[in-house]
Amino acid sequence: MKLASVVGARPNFMKLAPLATALDRRPGVEHFVIHTGQHYDAAMSDTFFRELRLPDPRYHLAVGSGSHAQQTAAIMERIEPILADERPDIVIVYGDVNSTVAAALTAAKLNLTVAHVEAGLRSRDRTMPEEVNRIVTDSLATILLAPSPDAVSNLRAEGHDPHEIHFVGNIMIDVLRFALGQAQRPAGAPNRDGDSAPYVVATIHRPANVDDPVNFQEIMGALLELSEQCPVVFPVHPRTRQRLEKQGIYARAAQLRLSDPLPYLEMTALVAGANLVVTDSGGLQEETTYLGIPCLTVRSTTERPITCTEGTNRLVAANRDVIVAAAREALARPLQGPPIIDRWDGRTGERIAAVLCGDEEAAEPTR
Ligand code: UD1
Repeated sequence: MKLASVVGARPNFMKLAPLATALDRRPGVEHFVIHTGQHYDAAMSDTFFRELRLPDPRYHLAVGSGSHAQQTAAIMERIEPILADERPDIVIVYGDVNSTVAAALTAAKLNLTVAHVEAGLRSRDRTMPEEVNRIVTDSLATILLAPSPDAVSNLRAEGHDPHEIHFVGNIMIDVLRFALGQAQRPAGAPNRDGDSAPYVVATIHRPANVDDPVNFQEIMGALLELSEQCPVVFPVHPRTRQRLEKQGIYARAAQLRLSDPLPYLEMTALVAGANLVVTDSGGLQEETTYLGIPCLTVRSTTERPITCTEGTNRLVAANRDVIVAAAREALARPLQGPPIIDRWDGRTGERIAAVLCGDEEAAEPTR
């Protein structure tokens, strides 16, 4: 059996790790990786391959950055001859980035089977490029690997064949559990265990927050205000760095502890020790829920509602006063134990491998 995983952006690499390990253990399975090159900085790509012991890509498409159409088209053009030549039994795509939809569309047109890891998440906000990518990818995939019951419900409501929907759980929790066992807090970072001073971790990179000057000023104003109360550690995505430099905020933001994007293990240790996370990331909403750490997500919608209903996540507007008030309230509240969420248990990679390999029990349609 021949399986191809297509990855391209930082959040894809984390999701690949547990599945690559699970597939490796299965005799008779050939699994290879295609890296689109959507993310190419060492801090956004190479360190993840090294730390998470990911298999070296058999192909690297080196597409780089561009508009959505340019990036998607470049991936499709470069991946088509590879998929046509290799003809894998299943093409596995991950999450909701441009690499995901480009690979799914190319594979489907070659009549190859597409499996989507993290199927069924919906924010119902089509102004988010990721929402468009999710809808298109799920409409093309015939192996829909859902992380949570809400994702299963969304897929059913959209009319997907129940036999194609598999409630496998959240693969991010697999890699998070691995990382917690290995993680090392970055040098110089505050330590929640060692001293009692709380600290906040912030990450902001969505176009709606970063490319809109008003929203960006509001968010940065909130983080600067919070940093007067306690340290705010802010690993900066390349897009955000460009905006900070352009608007002259970068120089003024010295009260924040700004850094390059962190390797996954360092980031995990940093988050695990934090008292609060302020973010617009998808993955961090889930990681903080699993860890029981309060999270403020600077967005009006989330495709991961379970993190709000069962977890520690709260949506906040891109408004300085709203963010600061919500942060102060969260910092004053005692930390609660993490919730237990069905199939967020570290075994999702194994379940997906079983589904892909056609193990009868795992291939059972979800309830
Ligand atoms: C992509 C995903 C987003 C995900 C994020 C994680 C899409 C539509 N979006 O957004 O869902 O949360 O990855 O990081 O696929 N850049 C670099 N070096 C890099 C990569 C990017 O400098 O290695 C800069 C470039 O200026 C580029 C910009 O960041 O134009 C945006 O990169 P892009 O890949 O288009 O999307 P992300 O914002 O990273």
